[in-house]
Amino acid sequence: MTLPRRMLLNAFSMSCISHIHHGLWSRSDTRQLDYASFAPWTELAQLLERGCFDSIFLADVIGTHDVFRDGADTSVVEAMQIPINDPAMLIPAMAQVTEHLGLAYTSSVLQIPPFTFARQISTLDHLTQGRVGWNIVTSALRNAGTNLGFPGLPSHEERYNRADEYLDVVYKLWEGSWEDDAVLRDVVRGRYADPAKVHAINHAGEYYKVEGPHLCEPSPQRTPLLFQAGSSTRGRAFAAQHAECVFVVDSLAALNGPASVVRDIQTQARAFGRNPDEIRFFQGLSPVVGGTEADAKAKLDDYMESYSMDGALAHISGTMGVDLDGVDLEAPIESIEVEALRGWVKGLIDANPKKTQTFRDLIRARTLERFIVGAPEQVADGMEAWFNAGIDGFNLTYSVTPGTFCDFIDGVVPVLQKRGLAQTEYAPGTFREKLFGHANVSKDHHAASYRRD
Ligand SMILES: Cc1cc2nc3c(=O)[nH]c(=O)nc-3n(C[C@H](O)[C@H](O)[C@H](O)COP(=O)(O)O)c2cc1C
Repeated sequence: MTLPRRMLLNAFSMSCISHIHHGLWSRSDTRQLDYASFAPWTELAQLLERGCFDSIFLADVIGTHDVFRDGADTSVVEAMQIPINDPAMLIPAMAQVTEHLGLAYTSSVLQIPPFTFARQISTLDHLTQGRVGWNIVTSALRNAGTNLGFPGLPSHEERYNRADEYLDVVYKLWEGSWEDDAVLRDVVRGRYADPAKVHAINHAGEYYKVEGPHLCEPSPQRTPLLFQAGSSTRGRAFAAQHAECVFVVDSLAALNGPASVVRDIQTQARAFGRNPDEIRFFQGLSPVVGGTEADAKAKLDDYMESYSMDGALAHISGTMGVDLDGVDLEAPIESIEVEALRGWVKGLIDANPKKTQTFRDLIRARTLERFIVGAPEQVADGMEAWFNAGIDGFNLTYSVTPGTFCDFIDGVVPVLQKRGLAQTEYAPGTFREKLFGHANVSKDHHAASYRRD
């Protein structure tokens, strides 16, 4: 069954104080400082469900951003993704107060042995009645590697090699260990399950050796709904093979153009034997919604008063692995020596037509570029343009929480619903069923190749 295409809404957050828009945590109109208690999360989950959001996604890192000014001091001062708590722990709390909301979180393939991770997320899939999603990451922070016993961060290639094998292991556990009819629950004969239908996986690879069987009986989705956000060549190929939901951060022009990441991943998915309709693409946006355009712009100006350039530079430096402290913020970008700066900044400078603006302006503009600002109808118009360019859904970042989501739900969601773009009620079933119409991975997905029936 193929479901009609609709616009998907996902709230983006992290179990920390400062996630994306740094500096704003100290405002009185945001609950970021309460991150270590249940209330802001359970109340946010209920709010999102009132707004018919498909899901909330909690990102995660397992190390500090310690490249800027040669250490993690700026990150610590700015509460920039440190302190950060384990996102998985929040899933049961949010599940308990909601009925339909999808609950996705990040776990790195470097972080937990695949056997233990498969068990953790199967448990959550049981407890949430099949509402769990996994954002697969390979980690990009040096400190993540050294926290986990590696001499440094394993190379990009090795991380993706590990990811490929990690997925084979967890797929074998989720899909290939317990047959569909292994569980008998026969209280008359006292037989809970049929041992002939519960299998060891006997995986022996380059990085992992796992005998099995999986310790959890099949959960509603078996394999959790799979998210991924790799943007490199290898990352896109990985998405094409594994991801059911892909996070992209691109310009509308690029998505409409010949180098569209969406079309690239769809083409590669076909080469892996997958139906590209079995992949949903989510664009990252930061909505700032006001009663009028002027109100919304004033709101953004107000937010930018609290914006921290140090927080932004510590974040970007950590992610890129290049210390941006040496870059003169007031220099026109045409004069910046870009060769030392990899990917993100170089691409940013190349793409920017105004070479005379300063690096400070560029960083702020890059932040601003992710914003979508206006009255509800305007924000809905912008989102509809993305939707028409092949984006299925949106990963919505907050400026203040829950205020950003309240404004969006009260203002924009009704407009999207009236236009027939966003859902007005939830479909029954698991996270995957709500998005794709089937509870388990589709037959053409690599995970399904490990099924025994
Ligand atoms: C929306 C979004 C969410 C992401 N969430 C995480 C995360 O939670 N943890 C993490 O380590 N990386 C995260 N990343 C980074 C990606 O996993 C990936 O490393 C990055 O896009 C670079 O791609 P590559 O690994 O293929 O080079 C995220 C990226 C995007 C766009």
